[in-house]
Amino acid sequence: MSAQALDALVRSLHDEFQNGGRGGRVAELLGEYSGTGNDWRPLAPFSEQHYTRNLVALEARFELMILCWGPGQESPIHNHEGQDCWMAVLEGEVEEVRYPMPKGNGPAPLLAKGSLRFAPGQVAYIRDEMGLHLVRPLSTSASGGVTLHLYAAPYDECNCYCPDTGRITRKKLGHYSVRGRILSPSAAS
Ligand code: SIN
Repeated sequence: MSAQALDALVRSLHDEFQNGGRGGRVAELLGEYSGTGNDWRPLAPFSEQHYTRNLVALEARFELMILCWGPGQESPIHNHEGQDCWMAVLEGEVEEVRYPMPKGNGPAPLLAKGSLRFAPGQVAYIRDEMGLHLVRPLSTSASGGVTLHLYAAPYDECNCYCPDTGRITRKKLGHYSVRGRILSPSAAS
């Protein structure tokens, strides 16, 4: 499916990572697009069952996805496999709840250390040194939210943490759709 501004963003990200770029410029590019771009809509299907992970572009150095969050849907508390993760809000208001990375003394309940709110055009960033997080639309939102995620480098599994026990399970990360084509309505988020 064609999406001119989104494809221009992918090309800019490609050039940026090709040149070893990190940090400031990447956040700037995501912020610019998420504040103005509108052509992501056909690539952003929701599911009533779970939040959806919708692939826009996958390259050796990065993966760009649109995540759609229905009201009340949220990610598990998870890590980022030692990679960089940026999240720009496309629509709605989104909350990121942060948790400290558990110490190696065996499983224990996880206590949130705070939460941040992001509006369209704003960009969040996390990597494992900063802790764990979960993402969800604001509980007051009747229509949920849509976010643009950039992972550098891509990964297809991560740790998920039970908030009550700290127990870790591995989660396979799939795609609900690719460039707007739904792979399987029952596909994992
Ligand atoms: C995130 O990493 O913040 C979103 C969760 C996901 O990639 O499924």
